[in-house]
Amino acid sequence: MVEVVKLEFKGKIYEFPIISGTEGDMAIDIRGLRKKTGLITYDPGLANTGVCKSKITYLDGEKGILRYRGYPIEELAEKSTFVETAYLLINGELPTEEELKNFSIKLNDHSLVHEDMREFFENFPRRAHPMGILSSMVTALREFYPELKEGGKEEINTTFARLLSKVRTMAAMAYKISRGHKVVYPRHDLSYCANFLNMMFDSPVKPYIIDDDVVRALNVFWILHADHEQNCSTAAVRLVGSAKVNIYAAISAGISALWGPLHGGANQAVIEMLREIYESGGDPKPFIEKAKDKNNPFRLMGFGHRIYKTYDPREKIMKKLCHKILDKFKIDDPLLDVAKKLEELAVKDPYFQEKRLYPNVDFYSGIFLRAIGIPENMFTVMFAIGRLPGWLAQWKESMEDPHNRLYRPRQLYIGPSERKYISIEKRGKLTTTESA
Ligand code: CMC
Repeated sequence: MVEVVKLEFKGKIYEFPIISGTEGDMAIDIRGLRKKTGLITYDPGLANTGVCKSKITYLDGEKGILRYRGYPIEELAEKSTFVETAYLLINGELPTEEELKNFSIKLNDHSLVHEDMREFFENFPRRAHPMGILSSMVTALREFYPELKEGGKEEINTTFARLLSKVRTMAAMAYKISRGHKVVYPRHDLSYCANFLNMMFDSPVKPYIIDDDVVRALNVFWILHADHEQNCSTAAVRLVGSAKVNIYAAISAGISALWGPLHGGANQAVIEMLREIYESGGDPKPFIEKAKDKNNPFRLMGFGHRIYKTYDPREKIMKKLCHKILDKFKIDDPLLDVAKKLEELAVKDPYFQEKRLYPNVDFYSGIFLRAIGIPENMFTVMFAIGRLPGWLAQWKESMEDPHNRLYRPRQLYIGPSERKYISIEKRGKLTTTESA
C-alpha cells in the first residue's frame, strides 16, 4: 500500500504519496501540489527539497557516511585512484582493467589545449584569480571543440575525457602564466595526478622530481572531492544544464558556484583565517567568540555543513593525509598547530555543540595543499578539478532522467501591489544645481 501524507486546506483534504530511496530516506511527492491546491512550498536554500532522484552518491549527515555508487569513501580513499573513481562516478561501476586502460588512454589523447587558447590565458591581468580564468576558459572550450550533438555513448565519453583532461591542463597553465613562467605540456607517460604535478612544478631550470607519496596523496585529495550529491555547485550544473545549454557552459556554472567562500572557496578562506589567528598571537579564542557573535558576520571557516551534523568523514581522512605529508617532508607548519587548537576548542564550545558544527573537508585541506606546494589562490581550483567527475556524472544523470524539467522555482511575491506610474516632475525636485 502506498503511504500518503494528508494536507488539509480550506476544508478539503489532499493526499500526497510518500516515496523512498534505497537507504530508507523518505520524501513527500508534491509534484501535484500547486495544480491540486494552488499552493507552493516556501523553502529558502532548498534545505527540505529533493530536486531529483539520484543513483550516484549517498550521504548520511547524522552518521557521517559518504558513499560513491555504494562504495564507502574510506575504502575508495585507501584503495582507488582518482581516475578509477571518476570512471565509477560517471559509469556507475568500477572499471575492468581493460576499461580503465582505455579510459586512461582517452584522457591522455585529450590532454592538450588548443594553442590559440594560450593567447586568452596570456591576456588576463596578472592578478586575475585562477577560478575566474578557469570558468571563462571552460566556457570558451565550446568554441574550440565540438558540442555534444547526438549524445551517444562514445560522443559523451569523448567529451567527458576532453573536459577531465583539459581542465587539469588549463589549471596548471593558468598557474604558470600567472607567474610569467613557461607552460609545461602534459606527458603521455605520466599518470593523471603525476602529470598535473609535473605541469605545475617542472621548470627549465629545475626539473620536478615526482614523488610517489605526493602523487598518492593527490589521488586521495581528489577522490575526497569527487562528488557530494546535490551541493551548491552540482545543483548549479543541473540547473544551468536543465536549460539544455551546452555542457561546457553548465560545468563553467559549477566552477563559478564553487568559488564562493561558503562552498569550495572555504579552503582558501580557512588558511587566511588560520594565518590571521597565528599573526595575532596564535590564540583562537577571540575568533571563536567573534564567530558566535550574532552582530558579527564572521564565521569559523571550515566549520559547519548543511548536511553533516557530525564530523565530515572526508575531514578525518584529510587530517591524516595532512600529517602524513607534513611528517614525510619534515614540515613544521605553525598553521597546523593553530588549526588543531581551534578545532579542540570549538568542538567543546556549547555554541558549536548545540548547532552541531564540526570541521568539514576544507578545514585541513589548505594545510595539505600548502605542504605539496600549491599556492593559495589555486586551492579552490584544486577542489574544482576534483569535483569535475561528480559534475559530469550528475549532468549525465539529469540528461537521462525522463522527469528532468527546466529548473524554474516559484516565489512568494511580497512587493507592492499594482500602482500608477508617477511622472518624473511629480517625484520631487533636484536638491543640487547638477542635472541628472
Ligand atoms: N561559524 C559560526 N556559526 C556558524 C557556522 C560557522 N562556521 N556555520 C553555521 N553557523 C551557525 C549560523 O550562524 C546559524 O546560526 P543561527 O541558527 O543562530 O542563525 C546556524 O549555525 C545554521 O547556519 P546556516 O548558515 O543556516 O546553515 P547552513 O546549513 O545554511 O550553512 C554552511 C552551511 C557550510 C554554509 C555554514 O556552516 C558555513 O558558513 N560554514 C563556513 C563556510 C565553510 O566552511 N564552507 C565549506 C562547507 S564544506 C565544503 C563544501 O561544501 O564546499
